[in-house]
Amino acid sequence: MIVIGNDHAGTALKNHIVEWFKANKIDYLDVGCFEGEKCDYPVAAKNACDEIISGKAEKGILICGTGIGISIAANKIKGIRAAACSDYYSAKYTRLHNDANVLCFGARVIGDESAIELVNVFLNTEFEGGRHAARVQMISELEK
Ligand code: RB5
Repeated sequence: MIVIGNDHAGTALKNHIVEWFKANKIDYLDVGCFEGEKCDYPVAAKNACDEIISGKAEKGILICGTGIGISIAANKIKGIRAAACSDYYSAKYTRLHNDANVLCFGARVIGDESAIELVNVFLNTEFEGGRHAARVQMISELEK
């Protein structure tokens, strides 16, 4: 299952991605915020990341205005590796090399259809492991 969350700047893009999840029969959980609501991106980050840490969700998508605030907040949570991406290469390689479990977007940065391309490659790219596993382990050590 994929969890998706956003602040008020990210609602429209989140809705677009949710429609794509539905069309592609991808199991998802939308933790908000929702149309007409205002919410702070650290709250949205925590609500979504809690679902990953509990094991209920496998990966997450987070959206704010820039993608930066929500990624900074998400990366404070132990076990979360969140990458703010606006290009295909980064969205692919943050899976291959960093085993990122959260993809962040800036709704004011990226177009709707580009975001879908990035979600697709992020969800369908496996971690390469090997020499990268040791580096991801080093990131985990920083959390201690
Ligand atoms: C909200 O207006 C905006 O500050 C927020 O979405 C985000 O861009 C912060 O990083």
